[in-house]
Amino acid sequence: MRSFLSFAAFAAFVSAYPTAESDSVFPLPDGFPNPSDEQLLSIEKAAFGTLPNGPPPSQISNEGITNLKLIAFNELFEVDFFTQLISNITNKVSGYDLGDGQDYILSSLQAIVAQEELHALSANGPLKAFGFEEIQPCKYTFPVDSFSSAIALAGTFTDVVLGTLQDVDQIFAQNGDIGLVRVIASVIGNEGEQEGFFRLTQGKRPSSQPFLTTSVRDFAFTAIQSFVVPGSCPNIDTIPLKTFKPLNVLTSDISAETKEIQFSINISGIEDWSSLSLVYINQQNVPIVEPLSNTSVEGETLTFTAPFPYEENLLTGLTIAAVTQGSGPFADADAVAQAALFGPGLIEGP
Ligand SMILES: *[C@@H]1O[C@H](CO)[C@@H](O)[C@H](O)[C@H]1NC(C)=O
Ligand SMILES: *[C@@H]1O[C@H](CO)[C@@H](O)[C@H](O)[C@H]1NC(C)=O
Ligand SMILES: *[C@@H]1O[C@H](CO)[C@@H](O)[C@H](O)[C@H]1NC(C)=O
Repeated sequence: MRSFLSFAAFAAFVSAYPTAESDSVFPLPDGFPNPSDEQLLSIEKAAFGTLPNGPPPSQISNEGITNLKLIAFNELFEVDFFTQLISNITNKVSGYDLGDGQDYILSSLQAIVAQEELHALSANGPLKAFGFEEIQPCKYTFPVDSFSSAIALAGTFTDVVLGTLQDVDQIFAQNGDIGLVRVIASVIGNEGEQEGFFRLTQGKRPSSQPFLTTSVRDFAFTAIQSFVVPGSCPNIDTIPLKTFKPLNVLTSDISAETKEIQFSINISGIEDWSSLSLVYINQQNVPIVEPLSNTSVEGETLTFTAPFPYEENLLTGLTIAAVTQGSGPFADADAVAQAALFGPGLIEGP
């Protein structure tokens, strides 16, 4: 009963949220991103748990600071996304009317958004404590207008997060920030639980792969920017990560078979595109390099195909595609990002 009442209260205030493209949902009625102590308590209740209450580490590396900035940048956009999604479902916006099925979905999403708020605060808090600017929210716009497309998008960006937090943990460890590895591992588990819910909601098996696809920070940083209204981020320039040019995946229905799929890139400024390669990152495997085939140029747009070698490699779950200068070979995802000019193309296999 108690949870029903708090849900009703939540429903009353979400209906006041702006949902039009590029309106910011921030600050939220719960005070996020700058909640008072009392507001934090209510976020924690909604999240079914608290921020870690031990002291932060006494020192942190520069790369560790970049990790925290990226996490905050990511979690802020997720909070905006899930807030909009909850508002759309609550208001039965066209495409989001779930009828009788909505209570379980809404209460699950309300837990998720509060948990993402705490993830964001757990990154911005230490940034402030170490004397750095907290990352501020941007304005966002999402290429979805239905519950099913929104959940599919959530499943895709959460997969990118699940890959990127592997990189974050590795970078913390490499730079001696051991005190932050465990908490990130706990967040990876939380995001994996969310992913299972998004997959189940789409009728997919909840667990996608035995070893989840890895990613690197630069790919996540670029992918998130595709949801950002250009020029709307107050301090994105304080995040020292690389932004790649877009790689468009033109083929939509990618299934459990090896077949040629189509991509496009804008080759303005690229002198010799004959040395470019298409690279796939999937699971914990050595990246797969393919030549660009069936190329055609129209104006500045290069369209090409490359095989998606599903059968030989069991390319389940998330595959990250990038266009690199040269054909490698690339030992790992870091080496791909080093050589990448375009990406990430995000492909959700079966
Ligand atoms: C919410 O609905 C609006 C109107 O259809 C849409 O533009 C927006 O992308 C939706 N947001 C989410 C997260 O589903
Ligand atoms: C390609 O990129 C250039 C440079 O960023 C831009 O001016 C141009 O409009 C783009 N062309 C297309 C077709 O998107
Ligand atoms: C593209 O190139 C590949 C290999 O060169 C070929 O097998 C395929 O049939 C071509 N056409 C399309 C539309 O993919």
